[in-house]
Formats: sequence, structure tokens, C-alpha cells
Amino acid sequence: MVIGDTPISITLTKNELHPDDVMTTHTLTSAENSTGAPTPIAPPIVSTPVERLPFVIESIHDDETDVETGMRLTLNPPFVSIPFNHTLSTTLEEDALAPLFGGVEWAGTRFWAAAQQTIEVLQERKMLLVPKTKRVLELGAGLGVPGICVSEMYDSVESVIVTDSENLLPQLTKNTESLEKVHPAALWWGEDDVSLLSKDGKGWDLVLCCDCIYEPLYGDSWAKLVDVLVQIFSLNDETVALVSCERRKGDRVEDWVILCESKGLVVSMEDRGSEGCEEMQWCEGQRTGKVEVFTVVIK
Ligand SMILES: C[S@@+](CC[C@H](N)C(=O)[O-])C[C@H]1O[C@@H](n2cnc3c(N)ncnc32)[C@H](O)[C@@H]1O
Repeated sequence: MVIGDTPISITLTKNELHPDDVMTTHTLTSAENSTGAPTPIAPPIVSTPVERLPFVIESIHDDETDVETGMRLTLNPPFVSIPFNHTLSTTLEEDALAPLFGGVEWAGTRFWAAAQQTIEVLQERKMLLVPKTKRVLELGAGLGVPGICVSEMYDSVESVIVTDSENLLPQLTKNTESLEKVHPAALWWGEDDVSLLSKDGKGWDLVLCCDCIYEPLYGDSWAKLVDVLVQIFSLNDETVALVSCERRKGDRVEDWVILCESKGLVVSMEDRGSEGCEEMQWCEGQRTGKVEVFTVVIK
């Protein structure tokens, strides 16, 4: 299925990337959005050399139509012990796709700079988080890339649950069905009970949540995320949560931090700069082109 009807081709030149980067071209497709929310346009997927990043993610296109049919995720040594190649589906069936345009989950069919930075942070903190990290939960996972990456990058990981809305479950199921350790589940904050996903009631060692705080698109989800985190910490007070945000005007990230702290959570922020944010045309005029990664623990 084609999303929208106006393909736009963007070429990133060497100057806009790291000098060692390959030149990459990606076709963007405009999408309808019946909610009046900012019209999303698919961001480019930047091919980045393995020596700089723990992973490479590239668009796969149909040769004849040039429509994107999926993405290829590659992890290579030394970031993993055995090379890992995985194909991700970004093409939902018509009946699964339709509700996305009545809602706001379309963004969950793309890969975002905040997810890229989270994977880099996972690599940087590997020594700190392995061997303690056995059980992982990803919230608002979209394609599920950070959850899939941590299952391959951390030898200690036994299981990862990647969650998002019911409408995105077919995509998450396709993207994880060949992976032994990664399991999809529907979880919509404010409606579903996260503790039901913890079979033994002991919660998770690590929780990931990338690019899910943006009020113009997701309303008060940011406040509901705080409730979900509080519930997660009530199951296991040693949980570490990494919450990453690509900053956009009016996102309410500062209010999210204040609300977290008012509920006894300790939040520290790392400014990750703007890598991965290049040339995206989503939320034009609202993006600051900057990614922040928050580490959240309980007092
Ligand atoms: C911009 S996408 C990010 C997807 C992916 N994490 C990434 O960074 O590539 C935001 C995701 O947050 C999810 N989300 C927003 N509000 C949510 C809520 N209340 N409960 C669960 N997921 C939510 C959306 O469905 C969407 O998949």
C-alpha cells in the first residue's frame, strides 16, 4: 500500500553528513491525516557507517514503484558477537493501516532520531547495564528497533517485550516473529494495565521509550506515561528507564520531567545533539533538531 500520493525525493550529500558517510537518497511520501495534527512526511533513513554506530538501518524499495517495502537492520561485531541482519516491515495491510489515519500512530511506522540515539546510549552504557539487564520493556515501540537491538547487543538479555497500540500490533508481530527473545504486545497508556505484561510480577530491569512525548500529536499521553513509569517502578525499584525525545516546540517535555519528579522519580538528562535529525520534514517549523535522552530511576 502506498501512503499518500506525493513522493518526494531527498538526497543527503556528504557535506550534510559525517565526511565518511555514504551519500544516500530516500523517497518521502506525504500522508493524509484526518486529525488536523501536523501532516507527517516520512523522514529519511540515513545510512551510517558501522564504525561510528552500533547499527545500520536502510530503506528497502520496490525496484519498479520505488515505494518503500521495509527496512533492513544490520548489527555487526564488535557491537554483537555474530552479525545480525533483520528485515523490518513498514507496510501494513489496508485494514491495519486505515485506523492509523483516524488516529496518530502513523509515526510508529517510521524510525526516529530519538531511537537512533537510544541505541547509541545502549552501546555506550553496555558495561554498566550488562549483566544486570535481563528483562526489557519497550513502550511506544513503533517498529521495535531499540528493543530488537538490545536483545542482540546485550548477552544478558533474556526477554524483550515491545509494545505499542493495538493498531500497530500487526507490524510489531511481523517484525519480531523470527526473533526468539522479542515478543510484541498491545499497551496503550491510560487504558491498559502494564503490570499484566509482567508474568512473574517482578517487572523489568530496563525500560525504553523513544520519541513518544509530543503533545500536539499525542495529547496528554506524556502524563499517562508518568503513571505507567510509576507502576513499572512499583514492580521493581531497581528498574532503569531510558526515555528519549527529539525536541519539538510545545512537546511538554519539561512538564513531563516536573510531573515525574513530583511522583518521586529521579530524572537526569543528556543532550545528544542533533545527529539523525537531518533533513526530516515532519513537524516542519516545530522541530528544534535536538535529541535528549533522560535516565529515570526511583528515589
Ligand atoms: C514518533 S513514534 C516513535 C516510534 C519509535 N519509538 C521510534 O522512536 O522510532 C511515537 C510512538 O508513541 C506511541 N504512543 C503515543 N502515545 C501512546 C500511548 N498513550 N500509549 C502507547 N503508545 C503511545 C505511538 O503509537 C507511536 O508509535
